[in-house]
Amino acid sequence: MFIIIKDEAGMSREAAKLIAAAIKRKPRLVLGLATGSTPIRTYERLISLYKKGGLDFSQVLTFNLDEYVGLPEGHTQSYRHFMEKNLFGKINIRQENINFLKGDVADIEKECLRYEKAIEGSGGIDLQILGIGQNGHIAFNEPDSLENSRTRAVNLDRSTIEANARFFTRIEDVPHRALTMGIGTILEAKEIILLASGANKAQAVADSIFSAPSTETPASFLQKHSKVTFILDAGASKMIEMKKV
Ligand code: F6R
Repeated sequence: MFIIIKDEAGMSREAAKLIAAAIKRKPRLVLGLATGSTPIRTYERLISLYKKGGLDFSQVLTFNLDEYVGLPEGHTQSYRHFMEKNLFGKINIRQENINFLKGDVADIEKECLRYEKAIEGSGGIDLQILGIGQNGHIAFNEPDSLENSRTRAVNLDRSTIEANARFFTRIEDVPHRALTMGIGTILEAKEIILLASGANKAQAVADSIFSAPSTETPASFLQKHSKVTFILDAGASKMIEMKKV
């Protein structure tokens, strides 16, 4: 399904509405979350819905998609910190219901296995929120990631390091490795919402919808899922619109 909306504010409003409805339907929702610029305003809307008193996160469980290797959770550039600042610290979620990959563990394989088990033990992800990279990545599944890939350590593409450098003081500070849920892990979510805004995502969005599923565009594997909603603004949907004409 596609929801195409004029701008990023509309995209965020729509996404927050769907997430809030899912929590109301199932208060103990298992919610998969993304970091990056794209979901920030969606998280702002969720915080505002919570503050208005209508949305209760006290039973919600969360699993974030990814974390940088080497950064402890208290590090200001860690994704765990990002989530605390942009969502968790401002709603009534219980700390023990927040699940995160730990980037600074000694045994990475064990950590990835622990995460997969925790997802399974929670009953599986009910609703997974995704952004998309300009190269078509979802979570940190860069091109060449396999459809059945599981949670693991990956090397980040140069383009991803460059795109994420804006969050760091110097590009040299951006970690080159990350832990990420795999494509196979993501495809097991019962429902998926992919958010994209801005013309710089238009090509990746078009490839993920119109190209045959392939490792070239990891997001194209979402075609194999039966319940995916793309929420796009005008910029990100530009090449789909062209295709329709
Ligand atoms: C982040 C993540 C990434 C981002 C993607 C887009 O947890 O999984 O796949 O969703 O890199 O990033 P932004 O939103 O910053 O353009």
